[in-house]
Amino acid sequence: MRWRVSGVVLVAATLAVGCSRQAEVKPAPEPAATEAASHAEWTKVAVADMTPEQKAEQQKCEEAVKTMSGRLMSELTTALDSGGPAGAIEVCRSRAPEIAAAISNEYGLLIGRTSFRLRNPANAPPEWAAKLVEERVAEPTWLASPDGRLGGLLPIRLKAECGMCHGPKEQIAPQVLSTIEESYPDDAATGFKEGDLRGWFWVATPSRT
Ligand code: HEC
Repeated sequence: MRWRVSGVVLVAATLAVGCSRQAEVKPAPEPAATEAASHAEWTKVAVADMTPEQKAEQQKCEEAVKTMSGRLMSELTTALDSGGPAGAIEVCRSRAPEIAAAISNEYGLLIGRTSFRLRNPANAPPEWAAKLVEERVAEPTWLASPDGRLGGLLPIRLKAECGMCHGPKEQIAPQVLSTIEESYPDDAATGFKEGDLRGWFWVATPSRT
């Protein structure tokens, strides 16, 4: 009975922190599987080499990312119009994980945003994507796992309008900067210029086991 209770707690905690942790809900690795081996399990797969099944999954993944990107942008615009950048920060904080969770459900996929310079530490990459994040891969990249999962990392570049919250600190309005620093004491997501690689959407099919 005890394990059941802790299982429920684990799922609830996962939902509470949003998208980025969902991919981490999996059984602990076998003692024999070293960290290096578990990273090596996922291998790059070019779109041209995908099986028809992988291609169908890849298209669904891309649709999910488009939907998420569109929803984030429209909520951001609405929030900026009504509350200005300082108010929009709170919307980003509460709505970004909710939007990711809703899209995960709609598409039956795991999805989130990540970066090599995070604002919210809860947006750390899933394990399979960590190496690509470290390498700052600038092209859409797809990986396959031996147990039949597909994962994608799709670059996000900074647009001019993102600068008010992610640009060089001296260009961010003082009130916006102080709101960011209060909400995210470990913020590393300033100092970006238009066109810079800001991070990625990551998206993956769920484990079949
Ligand atoms: C109103 C301020 C604001 C604007 C404008 C803004 N962001 Fe953010 N951004 C945030 C906040 C706050 C977070 C943390 C959200 C969270 O807690 O998940 C964030 C998180 C992110 C993340 C997730 C990784 C991380 O560092 O936690 C990415 C990627 C990102 N923003 C990209 C962008 C892009 C691209 C734009 C422009 C289209 C943009 N942002 C515009 C405030 C903003």
